[in-house]
Amino acid sequence: MKRLLALAAASPFALFGYFAATAHAHGDVTPQAVDVAGLKVLGAGWSKSNPYRKNARAEQIGASAFNQNCARCHGLGAVSGGIAPDLRYLPTGDEGDEIYLGRVRHGATRDGRVYMPPFEGMLSQEAMWAIRAWLESVRVVD
Ligand code: HEC
Repeated sequence: MKRLLALAAASPFALFGYFAATAHAHGDVTPQAVDVAGLKVLGAGWSKSNPYRKNARAEQIGASAFNQNCARCHGLGAVSGGIAPDLRYLPTGDEGDEIYLGRVRHGATRDGRVYMPPFEGMLSQEAMWAIRAWLESVRVVD
């Protein structure tokens, strides 16, 4: 019985490891350079909220940047297949911006396992906020 319980506790992680490995095998492992031409340059300091909210050009750039860098885990078009959260449900506005930026910069690691890689240094701040602008444009109200 103890063993069974231990197994049950361990299995979601084992399952995730499997899917993550599969996702890596199929998707682009190296972050893709994102062309942010046409967007206001943001400089070195981190903005607390999305400077490109509702910016059509940013949404367009963000859609393709998302599919190249995030879709292998979060799903094409941000429609999650279940291995990672469905980002269409992130809160809107500043609240969602804060959750979003923290996660994208630092990724998610628990017990030494990388659930999501950090994107700081891989994607520019401009690219991160462009993706966020697009995510808000496809948001689902639950
Ligand atoms: C290797 C798979 C993987 C990739 C690639 C990935 N993520 Fe994630 N992401 C995850 C997982 C798994 C979680 C849930 C982490 C947790 O439970 O702590 C997550 C969580 C998040 C969250 C927090 C969601 C919430 O509801 O709190 C955001 C925001 C996010 N990811 C954005 C992105 C963006 C944007 C990209 C692309 C630049 C990206 N992720 C790439 C796997 C990934």
